[in-house]
Amino acid sequence: MKIAGAVSLVTGANGGLGQAYIEALLAAGAAKVYAAARRPDSVVVSAPGRVVPIALDVTDERSVAAAAAVATDVTLVINNAGVALNYGGFVTAGNTAAARQEMEVNYFGTWWVSRAFAPVLKANSGGAFANVLSILALVTAPIIGTYSASKAAALALTRSLRAELAAQGTQVIAVLPGTIDTPMSKDYPDPKVSVAEVAALTLRAIEEGISEVYPGEQASRLAEQLLSDPKAVEKQMSSLLPTA
Ligand SMILES: NC(=O)c1ccc[n+]([C@@H]2O[C@H](COP(=O)([O-])OP(=O)(O)OC[C@H]3O[C@@H](n4cnc5c(N)ncnc54)[C@H](OP(=O)(O)O)[C@@H]3O)[C@@H](O)[C@H]2O)c1
Repeated sequence: MKIAGAVSLVTGANGGLGQAYIEALLAAGAAKVYAAARRPDSVVVSAPGRVVPIALDVTDERSVAAAAAVATDVTLVINNAGVALNYGGFVTAGNTAAARQEMEVNYFGTWWVSRAFAPVLKANSGGAFANVLSILALVTAPIIGTYSASKAAALALTRSLRAELAAQGTQVIAVLPGTIDTPMSKDYPDPKVSVAEVAALTLRAIEEGISEVYPGEQASRLAEQLLSDPKAVEKQMSSLLPTA
C-alpha cells in the first residue's frame, strides 16, 4: 500500500522509535497520524492537524476499544509499543512480574490492538499492520530471554494474522530490528541501528509488500546466519548470560 494519503495509528508514539515513525510517515505524505500513547500529552505534535494524539494503553482492552471507536479512518496500524523489563534470566534472579508485563505489552497488547483495528482496516479497503518485534523473536539471548519469549509469541501472532487477514486484503508485516539507538537500549553495546533507518525500512516494506524486514546490520546478519547455521547462532547468543 502507499504511505502517501494513508491514515496511520502508531502505538508507543511518545517513545524513541514511535516519534521516528511519526516523522517518517509525515515526510512520506501520510494524511494523518494518530499518535497513540498512555499519556497523549507526552507526544510531540510536530504537525498540528496531521498529528492527532490519542490515549491508548495497549494492555487495557477498554482503552483499545475506545481508540478504535474514534480512529475509524485508519488504514495503517504500526504496533510499536513495547517493553524490555527483565534482565535476570529465567532462573537466576528472574523478575516474574516484569516478565509477565513484557507478555502483556509485547504479545497481548499487540493482539488486542490488532483485533480491535482489523475491522477498521477491512472497512477502509484492507490496509496494513506493521508489528514491531525484534530479531530476538528468532534468536534467544539468555540475559533477555523473557523479552525474547514475548517477541517470539508476537511473531507467531503476526504470522497467524497475516494468514487470517489475507482474505480481507490486510497486509501484515513483521519488523525484526537489532539493537536500536533509543532509551530502551541505552546500556547495550554497539552496533545500533538508528530510529530513522528502522522507520524508513518499515515504510518501504509496507509500500513494497515485504512481509518480514530486518533493520540494521546486526539483525540482517543474524537472519542470514540463521538460514545457513542456526546452531552456531544459538551457541553465539548463549554466551550472553544473566550476571546474578
Ligand atoms: N530499543 C531497541 O534496542 C529495540 C530493539 C528491537 C526492537 N525494539 C522494539 O521497538 C519498539 C519501540 O521501542 P523503543 O526502543 O522506541 O523504546 P521506548 O523509547 O522505551 O518506547 C517504548 C514505547 O512503548 C510504550 N508503552 C509501554 N507500555 C505501554 C502500554 N501498556 N500501552 C501503550 N504504550 C506502552 C511506551 O510508553 P510510556 O512512555 O507510556 O511507557 C513508549 O512509548 C518496542 O516494541 C521495542 O520492543 C526495540
